[in-house]
Amino acid sequence: MALIALTGAAGRIATALRPRLRAAGHRLVLCDGVGVAVTDVDVSTERAVECDLRDVDGQAEAFAGADLVVHLGAFSDERPWGDILAVNIDGTRAVCEAAHRAGVGRMLLASSVHAAGYVPVDSPLAREGMPLPAPDTYYGVSKAALEALGGLYAGRFGMTVVSARIMTFDDAPDGPRSLRTWLSPDDMARLVLAALTTGAGGHHVVWGVSRNTRRCVDLAPGLAIGFDPQDDAEAYAADGGQGGPSPSSGMLGGGFAAPEYRLGEPHGGTARPS
Ligand SMILES: NC(=O)c1ccc[n+]([C@@H]2O[C@H](COP(=O)([O-])OP(=O)(O)OC[C@H]3O[C@@H](n4cnc5c(N)ncnc54)[C@H](O)[C@@H]3O)[C@@H](O)[C@H]2O)c1
Repeated sequence: MALIALTGAAGRIATALRPRLRAAGHRLVLCDGVGVAVTDVDVSTERAVECDLRDVDGQAEAFAGADLVVHLGAFSDERPWGDILAVNIDGTRAVCEAAHRAGVGRMLLASSVHAAGYVPVDSPLAREGMPLPAPDTYYGVSKAALEALGGLYAGRFGMTVVSARIMTFDDAPDGPRSLRTWLSPDDMARLVLAALTTGAGGHHVVWGVSRNTRRCVDLAPGLAIGFDPQDDAEAYAADGGQGGPSPSSGMLGGGFAAPEYRLGEPHGGTARPS
């Protein structure tokens, strides 16, 4: 049984992870912002902590004794630069520092496909290995910074850090693009368990994607840390995924990389953030 601390614990991904990680026998520390309620806390296995992402001392206290910090807290969509800088970049630095001060040896950091959103879908850069950052938005820049911070804390302090470029997390594929990019809740849990147990030290950037028949990115970096996704969006292909098409750009970033997408503005619901 391990102790796993999650930031962004009231968010979509953490909410899906919690029952799966508890079922695997783990105890959880659930961190989210001050005044943000984490619901349905199972007091025998879970403890909720209200703490801002930028509060190093508060998070170090919350992370004490944890085997793994899963950093999910963020603005998970495009925002004005000041917001992104404060929460996604300063916040990630504070989470890494708090984990280090608490003596936590492992972190899983939620990066995004938007860290490499300007990589063409049909390119060897996408298909083989892991492309260098090519952010498509300020949000994407913050995820490239998150990966850089992961590398810093792995290199300087010997932590094992996995930065996962999550593509499209959802219960089921939501539109044609996500037949390629879907990450299922069960595979997200497999990713957390891989970060918890991998013997591959240092910093690893992996794709957060299921074993989709139509995937256009490489599973090998994930397999190298023991992340072996099992689900396939193809099971939903008959209806084209559940939703309608989202703006396409020919880039991994989808609508975020399209010319009509405005920098610094939330997407506004025409396509899901991913
Ligand atoms: N959902 C996806 O498809 C997807 C894809 C790629 C990357 N990601 C990344 O995965 C992570 C989790 O995604 P999600 O869909 O669960 O996001 P979400 O928006 O549902 O949850 C984010 C959580 O972060 C918390 N948070 C925001 N600012 C905070 C602050 N200042 N202090 C403390 N907590 C704060 C929010 O309260 C919220 O509960 C995010 O980092 C996101 O960028 C998600």
